[in-house]
Amino acid sequence: MRIFHLSAECYPVAKVGGLADVVGALPKYQNLLGMQAAVVMPYYNRKFVQENEFDVVFKAATLLGTRRLYFEILKEKTDKLGFELYLVKIPGLIDREEVYQYPDETDQFIAFQIAFLDWISYSMQSPDIIHCHDHHSGLVPFLLQNSKLYTRLANTPTVLTIHNGQYHGWFGWDKLYYLPEIDVWKGGLLEWGTGINPLAAAVRCCWRYTTVSPSYLNELSVSSNGLELLFQMERWKGIGILNGIDTDVWDPQKDPMIPDKFSIKQITKGKQANKQALCKRFGLSPDKPLISFIGRLVGEKGADLLPVAMEESFNEHPGQFNFLLLGAGEKDVESELIQLRDFYPDQCAVFIGYDEALAHLVYAGSDFLLMPSRVEPCGLNQLYALRYGTMPMVRSTGGLKDTVIDFGDEGGYGIRYNHASVEDICGAVTRALMLYGNTKHLQQLQKLMMALDFSWDRSAKEYIDLYKSLNPTI
Ligand code: ADP
Ligand code: GLC
Repeated sequence: MRIFHLSAECYPVAKVGGLADVVGALPKYQNLLGMQAAVVMPYYNRKFVQENEFDVVFKAATLLGTRRLYFEILKEKTDKLGFELYLVKIPGLIDREEVYQYPDETDQFIAFQIAFLDWISYSMQSPDIIHCHDHHSGLVPFLLQNSKLYTRLANTPTVLTIHNGQYHGWFGWDKLYYLPEIDVWKGGLLEWGTGINPLAAAVRCCWRYTTVSPSYLNELSVSSNGLELLFQMERWKGIGILNGIDTDVWDPQKDPMIPDKFSIKQITKGKQANKQALCKRFGLSPDKPLISFIGRLVGEKGADLLPVAMEESFNEHPGQFNFLLLGAGEKDVESELIQLRDFYPDQCAVFIGYDEALAHLVYAGSDFLLMPSRVEPCGLNQLYALRYGTMPMVRSTGGLKDTVIDFGDEGGYGIRYNHASVEDICGAVTRALMLYGNTKHLQQLQKLMMALDFSWDRSAKEYIDLYKSLNPTI
């Protein structure tokens, strides 16, 4: 079965968040189950692309409205990632360094999708399934069904995975002419609100859509940045499939990014050694409990709550714990966090920026990982934390609810709270510190966490079962 995953991100080629981790892992695990899964993504002028060799497998010109674009499809030569990797390169439009936030981002993603469709409709390699991820490839299911250019592929089943229903890729009707010709009356499929909404079009036109956790499937019908009604109507098409983690990349026994490797048997010693390295780097005492946060500093993650919540917790438990944050995002949140660090230099460390290796060390060397998310479609941080014996402190929402059981409940191993609020975060900190005081109990729970299995094996199979239900010829 030949599957093309279409995505804006893929680890280790280009990563902004969890989308990259999923698209960098799922195809690999599908291939281990006998599939032929490949990834197609935009070309980014970044380290991975500069350090690896590619063949040009297709070259053509296409149109974005009246603009003629020459594009190339590049294939990584060795398949070293465990899947075929294809990059769509369009000089002057899709050949830059950053993944998002260019002023012509809409043009970039429309052109990416058109180039992909042109390529597969001309080449002999028809896929059995096209698997789109988020709105960046959301026009593909619509165009396959409604553009005369691609009629040869009109019966190819499409699956859409929604990693984040908050972002829709909205653009105005003035850009309709960018799309290959469609019958005018089909335009309604693109519309939501006052313009063209690629995520809405994808939900309508895909054969099935999935969400990255079962709880998130239900939540979209009540909270999806304006698409609630659409999700209520199209609910029958949706399936919740929980993300897994790449246990080759995230393995405390072999992780080259942490100084002290450890298995479940050496958990106490291993975590302590990594904590020492981490605390030394940031000038914190390794003898105090360490609560950390990793992530995008945006409202979805509840990052704006952290400065006040930490300040209150520092005052409530003076000198009793340390807080470390690794993240980047909204400038006012960044600046409040820096002020917090400057005010509590012995208890608080803040690293503004993106650092993959440091993230591994934070998972390994922290005692607790705080995730006060307002929205969390799945969340991978808590799964990485668990694998490294670090207790997640999560708000009960989305994938956090599906993966973390409170240690006060039967079989539990984490800390859960109901509201993304300062009060609930402070309550969770108090519980964490009480637990930390009971060394034996915490150690038991750490062993339990490390033994949990959130690998891709089960979920990769669930996707394959879904594909088979859509394409019985396979
Ligand atoms: P999201 O995709 O919404 O950001 P996820 O929990 O699914 O959230 O995944 C976040 C991923 O990005 C994880 O791999 C996490 O370790 C990583 N990450 C987030 N922020 C940073 C950062 N500042 N430095 C390094 N890694 C980060
Ligand atoms: C999104 C979500 C996150 C999820 C990730 C991977 O970025 O915000 O919750 O884990 O995608 O599916």
